[in-house]
Amino acid sequence: MTEPIYAERRKRVAAQLGKDGIAVIPTAPERIRNRDSDYPYRHDSYFYYLTGFTEPNAWLVITGDGRSTLFCAPKDMEREIWDGYRLGPEAAPQALGVDAAHSIIELDAQLPKLLENREAVWFPFATHEGLESRIGGWLNQIRARVRYGALCPEQQRDLCAVLDEMRLVKDAHEQDIMRRAAQISARGHVRAMKLAARMLRGGKDVREFHLDAELLHEFRFGGSQYSAYSSIVAAGANACVLHYRSDTAPVRDGELVLIDAGCELDGYASDITRTFPANGKFSGPQRALYELVLASQQAAIAATRVGARFTDPHDATVKVLAQGMLDVGLLDSGKVGTVDDVIEKRAYFQFYMHRTGHWLGMDVHDCGSYVEPSQVGEVSERKDPLSGEIIKNRPSRILKPGMVLTIEPGLYVRPAEGVPEQFHHIGIRIEDDAIVTDAGCELITRGVPVEPDEIEALMRA
Ligand code: GLY
Ligand code: MN
Ligand code: MN
Repeated sequence: MTEPIYAERRKRVAAQLGKDGIAVIPTAPERIRNRDSDYPYRHDSYFYYLTGFTEPNAWLVITGDGRSTLFCAPKDMEREIWDGYRLGPEAAPQALGVDAAHSIIELDAQLPKLLENREAVWFPFATHEGLESRIGGWLNQIRARVRYGALCPEQQRDLCAVLDEMRLVKDAHEQDIMRRAAQISARGHVRAMKLAARMLRGGKDVREFHLDAELLHEFRFGGSQYSAYSSIVAAGANACVLHYRSDTAPVRDGELVLIDAGCELDGYASDITRTFPANGKFSGPQRALYELVLASQQAAIAATRVGARFTDPHDATVKVLAQGMLDVGLLDSGKVGTVDDVIEKRAYFQFYMHRTGHWLGMDVHDCGSYVEPSQVGEVSERKDPLSGEIIKNRPSRILKPGMVLTIEPGLYVRPAEGVPEQFHHIGIRIEDDAIVTDAGCELITRGVPVEPDEIEALMRA
């Protein structure tokens, strides 16, 4: 039997559906890569959160009275010879703690019966292609029977609203997996750093894919199922392309390498970025910008604590970066004014154009509202100084223990008029994963160092 946490989560969902509510949650479909080859299968996060079940072809139904019913692939010896073991509906109640289980073949016959005489049907909106029309088809079958006294659900409600709030705060079981995922990913980064320096010392032709291979080796060796997202391994100027993918570019002596990569372990993502000198020794300009990004990250970490707003770490980062841009000469105070002007007019955006973090969990950009639910009606307006657009603001989320977020400031310097040449093409990001605790936050990704001296020592070893 899987951990009781899944049954407890289903009960918590049931309690929010209303007495005559029903929730329908499919897992993810299998996707064909070409002909009869599939992409590696990844379950749906909502479905997994409520079942711990990773097989494709499965649906979960929860009713307001607390009962849960699973539809799953039936036992089939011939298919199991080709595709592998199936749990099957006979074993599912005992294995997963659901109250009933049926073959997936019965889904279309059973769902109208389960939906009949309910007040509201809940399902995740805009997450599964074709789900709305599938549910619509079942509701239509009930409508055809209203003359015989059947009641068709009058309300359709978004289950994401319920599940996103639950997933936003990670319980002890989730935090434990996320710590382990973070440790595996950190080892991958250490391994990639070491390989770059070792190959360059040996006079080898180092390519971005060599470092990507080290990451993947450590992820799989550590027991993770796959990468949580496509790894970015960006040598030199490629680091200034925010969504660059590891490719064939050479990793050159004297340049920086930016790696943004993390594994997924048992359904949970980790997300780490490190930037390091390919040869193991920062140059003066590289170190100056690196230390600035690190200082901005330290300010963001200090601002990540219970009771703070989600935007506080970002604001703390921007303050340090904006001052630093003036100090090192990336921005000219004669043109852009004081640090307050740089922030007010968003002049820092030339070199820092993304936010400082996001929720992390089952999905790398995890679900959960960034607006404080109790203040959702408090709307203010401001004019964006760069685009002139009017932006509606709502108070940002207040951090609570168990929320997990990334802290990932960066600097990306493309050549432009007035930008000192020594900084051209330098791209730096430092990203750690933080669990909000009563005392502040716990950084779970520090198995790979961030201090420049420690990175250099590690790469010399
Ligand atoms: N790796 C994706 C991100 O950092 O947001
Ligand atoms: Mn991230
Ligand atoms: Mn990342």
